Amino acid sequence: MRISVIGCGYLGAVHAASMAELGHEVVGIDVDERKVATLRDARAPFYEPGFEDLLRCTLGTGRLSFSTDVADAAGARVHFLCVGTPQKHGEYGADLRYVDAAVESLLSVLQPGELVAGKSTVPVGTAARLAELVEGKVPGALLAWNPEFLREGFAVEDTLHPDRLVYGLPAGPDGEVARQLLDEVYAPIVARGTPQVTTDHATAEMVKTAANSFLATKISFINAMAELCEATGADVKLLADAIGYDDRIGRKFLNAGLGFGGGCLPKDIRAFMARAGELGADQALTFLREVDNINMRRRIRMVELAREVLDGSLLGKRVAVLGAAFKPDSDDIRDSPALNVAAQLQLQGAVVCVTDPAAVENSRREWPHLDYAATPEEAAADADAVLVLTEWRQYRELDPVAFGALVRQKRVLDGRNALDRETWTAAGWTYRALGRRAG
Ligand code: UDX
Repeated sequence: MRISVIGCGYLGAVHAASMAELGHEVVGIDVDERKVATLRDARAPFYEPGFEDLLRCTLGTGRLSFSTDVADAAGARVHFLCVGTPQKHGEYGADLRYVDAAVESLLSVLQPGELVAGKSTVPVGTAARLAELVEGKVPGALLAWNPEFLREGFAVEDTLHPDRLVYGLPAGPDGEVARQLLDEVYAPIVARGTPQVTTDHATAEMVKTAANSFLATKISFINAMAELCEATGADVKLLADAIGYDDRIGRKFLNAGLGFGGGCLPKDIRAFMARAGELGADQALTFLREVDNINMRRRIRMVELAREVLDGSLLGKRVAVLGAAFKPDSDDIRDSPALNVAAQLQLQGAVVCVTDPAAVENSRREWPHLDYAATPEEAAADADAVLVLTEWRQYRELDPVAFGALVRQKRVLDGRNALDRETWTAAGWTYRALGRRAG
């Protein structure tokens, strides 16, 4: 099938290459000329394991191309909307200008019988509004909402092997036409027996925001328990293990630490609250404000813990920060808890050196006033404290004995509860972590 993908960020670029991998003829459209040139060159504009290989293979088949001209989307039977919906500046709501612009530009090429399939995370009600616009301007064209659940770091795997397919379809016979088109797109995934949920537009939009709100709530729940553990001397890691054995609860997403960041969870819960307010249902989501507050408090607590460990003052202390990306296996620094803490420490007088296996370049651009190092060893030279703020495998596997020889003071703060406390303390380190007693 001929397919277009509008917007080639994390979501769109991976989606375009994955759809070509499934056998379709795909054109990825983006307004950013540099991004398009990079993708055409079979280079990933962001760090995502497995993506560059997939890009190289699919470009090699001739089925995948990239363009800055939306006219190249003409003739596609399905047009996927994959543009970003960032938080509005100074407001909680989502900024829909890229979605609106993408649909507006598509109208010039869209033909009756073609399907616009939205994948971006949007406030509930957006699909209905866009469907009216599309059907009004191009009678016979259809619009469906088909949310995406990919995690950065696993984007290729999640796109090619999703755990469910959600189709938000128009009512009546149009819905059946749209369903068949999407089934044809995802044929190999459908054939594997992947669960499918067919809904109206509004439910499909909400599936995405509800899923992300649940995940954020789960993380903040365990971080709230961490606060209590700090007050009582209990251990949040063992607590998570113990409650996680109950399969109604489950151990996944119960890792206490610095909390969630990135381009999705923080802005999605805020946009969800804003939308609930517009709908007169704000009370239903007031708990998400607390989820957000708990999450942000962890960053403040981390700075306080650093001050505590550094004998009550950050002034002039050398601090090594291991990790800048919002999570491992990513170079994404959007709303990164690690960089937030690093910047706070520096503002409060510490001499901070940040390292990350993939995100130093992005960090330097956004946070030019911080110092950076290429390796943890370089960052930790003569450090008074080492903070592990993103749980990259490289940091989890550090040898505390050899690493201890580099620093001025063997003090480690494990912001992600990712290190083995016993081996670090056995090597003479003072070990501190959120939600756990001093080791
Ligand atoms: C998320 C959703 O998981 C995905 O389904 C959606 O499509 C986009 O948003 P992503 O932002 O890539 O994906 O990251 P995710 O793996 O969900 O982690 C989000 C944040 O939560 C990270 O900062 C991570 O460090 C943190 N986290 C995760 C925890 O603090 N504890 C946990 O137990 C799990």
